[in-house]
Amino acid sequence: MKAWQKQGIGLENMKLVEMETPKPGPKQILIRVKAVSLNFRDKAIMDGSYLPELMNRKFVPVSDTVGVVVEMGSEVTRLKLGDRVTSHLYTKWIEGAPGEDEAPDAIGGPNNGGLAEYMILEENAAVLAPTNLTDEEASTLPIAALTAWFSLVEYGNLKSGETVLVQGTGGVSIFAVQIASALGARVIATTSSDDKGEKVRKLGATDIINYVKTPNWEDEVLKLTDGKGVQHILEVVGGDGLNQSIKALAQQGYIYIVGFLNGMMSNVNLFSLLAKQARIQGIYVGHRKAFDEMNQAFDKYQIKPVIDTIYSFEQAIEAYKHLARGAFGKIVIRVEEN
Ligand SMILES: NC(=O)c1ccc[n+]([C@@H]2O[C@H](COP(=O)([O-])OP(=O)(O)OC[C@H]3O[C@@H](n4cnc5c(N)ncnc54)[C@H](OP(=O)(O)O)[C@@H]3O)[C@@H](O)[C@H]2O)c1
Repeated sequence: MKAWQKQGIGLENMKLVEMETPKPGPKQILIRVKAVSLNFRDKAIMDGSYLPELMNRKFVPVSDTVGVVVEMGSEVTRLKLGDRVTSHLYTKWIEGAPGEDEAPDAIGGPNNGGLAEYMILEENAAVLAPTNLTDEEASTLPIAALTAWFSLVEYGNLKSGETVLVQGTGGVSIFAVQIASALGARVIATTSSDDKGEKVRKLGATDIINYVKTPNWEDEVLKLTDGKGVQHILEVVGGDGLNQSIKALAQQGYIYIVGFLNGMMSNVNLFSLLAKQARIQGIYVGHRKAFDEMNQAFDKYQIKPVIDTIYSFEQAIEAYKHLARGAFGKIVIRVEEN
């Protein structure tokens, strides 16, 4: 089969190669890959900044994959030939509490991912794709959508009428806007671009704050909520900006720590945290059970993932470069042409 392989650090070391098509073990399936989508994680792995010691080996990159089951092991019971499935990043985290360390079992690094004609998945690490989505759309779900869902629904038990703040218009935040507004929440979104603000408004955000023009956006959030603050914040920015989120939070609200685009260390005012009785929740994507539940919700509410651009298999490097430049919506690579 044809496959892209990470052979070292940097996109110049991502090579298109011929590889033996793998054979599924007893509890594994082989899928014909239809499409993959890129996440910040895929870029950071190629840059050498994401768990570099764990990723210091050759593998097929990209974790978010959709494909059709074409072969399966003798002990597979959950799936059948012809099923269209998406990959599940933390392959051993099925439900309940996560294991001690899920990263070594993740796909798209350090284990083979989906940027190849075929891919092996553990039967337990495959999820039926929502029927209302195209291959390209379904490929966007495993990381960005599940991260937003797991934060707001699994941990946050989001209710209609509550208010959610999303930071920026990256992949996770756009899904958070769509999920939260489908569930009847009010959504406030920050962005650096008025143009993107209008786009995110069409997806369900009711209030937009430009965080470049209004650096103290937390004051604006308080004004918009009559001084009460918001019940849920998807924190993708991190750094000392966490203090702004605490200020914008309602009493006993949740801050989901998803990303750290502005820094991994944070100097937090603990008094403001305790006075708000804030709940700070670390997020590491999510488990498979929640993924199944999320897919049902995507079907029920007819949520359509936002795609910026679809590249061909041969254009994989250009797709990575596009991700690095920034996009509105997901960057997808079509692996098997229709
Ligand atoms: N913990 C997890 O399980 C998990 C899962 C997925 C992702 N992540 C992390 O979450 C972060 C976001 O991921 P992603 O895939 O959504 O990334 P992305 O698509 O690359 O998001 C980039 C967007 O973030 C916004 N942004 C950047 N700096 C900002 C700031 N100072 N204030 C507000 N918004 C800002 C910008 O929005 P505008 O252009 O609108 O300004 C930018 O377009 C990354 O750090 C990623 O590693 C974590």
